[in-house]
Amino acid sequence: MIDPPIAMLAELTHRCPLSCPYCSNPLHLTTVRQELTTEAWIDIFVQAAQLGVLQLHLSGGEPASRRDLVELTEAAQSAGLYTNLITSGIGLTKERLRALDAAGLDHIQLSVQSVKASLADQIGNYSGGFDRKMKVVDWIQELGFPLTLNAVMHRHNLDDLSLTIEFAQTIGARRIEIACVQFQGWALRNRKALQPTLDQVNAAKDIVKDKSSRLRGKLAIDFVPPDYFSDFPKACMGGWGSTGININPDGTVLPCHAAQTIPHLTFENVKEKSLAEIWSKGQAFNMYRGVDCLPPLCQACERRNIDFGGCRCQAMAILGDAAVPDPVCRKSEGRKVLDAVLAEEEIEDAPPVEFVYRHL
Ligand code: FES
Repeated sequence: MIDPPIAMLAELTHRCPLSCPYCSNPLHLTTVRQELTTEAWIDIFVQAAQLGVLQLHLSGGEPASRRDLVELTEAAQSAGLYTNLITSGIGLTKERLRALDAAGLDHIQLSVQSVKASLADQIGNYSGGFDRKMKVVDWIQELGFPLTLNAVMHRHNLDDLSLTIEFAQTIGARRIEIACVQFQGWALRNRKALQPTLDQVNAAKDIVKDKSSRLRGKLAIDFVPPDYFSDFPKACMGGWGSTGININPDGTVLPCHAAQTIPHLTFENVKEKSLAEIWSKGQAFNMYRGVDCLPPLCQACERRNIDFGGCRCQAMAILGDAAVPDPVCRKSEGRKVLDAVLAEEEIEDAPPVEFVYRHL
């Protein structure tokens, strides 16, 4: 008997007004014509609740690009799911937020590219985006939505970490997620431009430690340090096929958002099979599920049930083999490859590298 997933990430659309260089969505995006209909999404939400999913993350792209966002939220609520909207804020109006509130939206996660307007607009490649986001912040405060600030940090904004945490407090966030960029999807193309330096990473860790203790009870700080500088890998997805399930805009069901980079996996679609069947019997979900599927080094490791061998997609991206240990692990052979990448990219005074922006 396989335990059900706790959380479902519904990538409602790949459309997005921003063009962030660290976008983690796949290289081949789903077009608007391929997107699931409103009815199909509602059916997935009902199936998810029946399967045992508790939390629904409405994401994208920019989920506000879907005209039926309010209807979808209402349906998810009726199905009994906790609803969290992950948004850049662009595309939300006060009226839409009011309607989302009435539909029962539980929580908002607002992304911020930088707390400095010009840098934010440069990173998102969207002029005036920061000012629009600030208007959305006012409305969110007015309506009283519980708010988390999402900040993707990298070489260009990690020095502003203290300011970013202060900003989260100013806008009334209860939580801030500081995720150093993970090099998947489009972000891998911009690795050279985004890779922080070791000094930046060490300073960030000190800041997080200090702020976490001083702001205890006022602001929860979740910090995801940059993978490449860690000694051991992260427990990606809390373990493959274990706690999370992702749905692409066209209904393809994935064990994680980058799983399609692993060529020998077969992905199924909710248009053809039930969510429960795909979760329990799907080839992609069972390929790396549980600790028995881990490479021998990980199976023998005392961290086996802590990091589950790390990220399969990172092993694929860096080493060309999803079945070997995540190269972040200091015990693994692949670490040499990662260290060579770092030696090349993590140069203190390297000249700035231009962003390769993502466009749909
Ligand atoms: Fe796929 Fe980590 S992103 S396992």
